[in-house]
Amino acid sequence: MAGCGVRALRWGHEAAPLAAVAARISANDADPERLIWLESNLASLRSAGVALTLSTRSAEGLLAEAFLAGQTFDFIDLDAFGSPGALLQPALKTLAFGGILFLASTDGRSPTGHDRPGAVRHLGASARVHPASWELALRQQLGLIAREAWMLGFGLEPLCSFSEGRTFRIAVRLRKRPCPGEEAQLGMLARCSTCGAQQHQTLLKMRQWSSCNCLESEAHLAIHGPLWLGPLQDSDFLADLAGFSISLAPKTHHLLRRLQEDAADLPMVWSTAELAQRLRLAGPPPLAALVKALRCRGHRAAVSGVMASQVRTDAGLPELLQVCRDLDEEGFK
Ligand SMILES: C[S@@+](CC[C@H](N)C(=O)[O-])C[C@H]1O[C@@H](n2cnc3c(N)ncnc32)[C@H](O)[C@@H]1O
Ligand SMILES: [Zn+2]
Repeated sequence: MAGCGVRALRWGHEAAPLAAVAARISANDADPERLIWLESNLASLRSAGVALTLSTRSAEGLLAEAFLAGQTFDFIDLDAFGSPGALLQPALKTLAFGGILFLASTDGRSPTGHDRPGAVRHLGASARVHPASWELALRQQLGLIAREAWMLGFGLEPLCSFSEGRTFRIAVRLRKRPCPGEEAQLGMLARCSTCGAQQHQTLLKMRQWSSCNCLESEAHLAIHGPLWLGPLQDSDFLADLAGFSISLAPKTHHLLRRLQEDAADLPMVWSTAELAQRLRLAGPPPLAALVKALRCRGHRAAVSGVMASQVRTDAGLPELLQVCRDLDEEGFK
């Protein structure tokens, strides 16, 4: 899925020189008309000493052939159009243990609940509309990667996950086997579409959902999953990335900083605009003050690195609303 080759070019010039061993890069796109562009755009990699193989196979064919030949890759970048689910097993089977899969999906409609039959087909999951839609789309995608990896006996470690609303990108490290308790990271999340209360459960301990603050006749739970409940980022990995002396665009620096400040290890995220609307406040509470106030009350809280103006916390909705109300009365100090 190399397209014009720009990603292979960057991996070759920016990442390969940092590798301990001489890099070999295989750039492939199923469209044969791309070959001429790959040849010319990646010519400088050859001059830089990178062993380059170009091909115009289907990714499935390329990966299957590598698997049969016993070849593994340390890094696979699948920059797919649409849903990449069908390529997960072939990619995971040819990824070295400790290797990294960097996966893109441009299918935003299925995991954000705008195409529910699509979510069942592409993710084997229930996806519903939610204010933290990008967060849940990434968690749906990670849930699928986890299930595919576990089926092969492997484990996974999410390294970073992000989106700008159109493309959902995830980097995961493959482990030879799951960590003890890794299965507890897969579960379901429920949100009452009347009052907005959220809760989650692991698949291992699924039981009845708790009541929210609505009257029984008014409560309406929209259930998402199975999805990944665990961390979306690995802060050590992000710190390493930020420490490399490669030139990054200011937007990329900003993204790395946002992700570093949010381990994203709690699945419940709230839009501050929604909280303000529920309280009929003039505007949303400032994120930094909200996070500070929640932490002062003994909660875990962080500014979401995934979507703007959202807070991640283990506080329940009634307390979250109370903190917002208090901040408003104090003049949002
Ligand atoms: C999102 S584009 C990649 C863009 C590329 N990163 C770039 O910067 O030009 C997806 C690419 O995947 C290719 N493609 C689609 N299905 C494929 C498949 N099954 N195997 C290999 N390549 C495929 C398309 O030809 C297209 O170039
Ligand atoms: Zn409710």
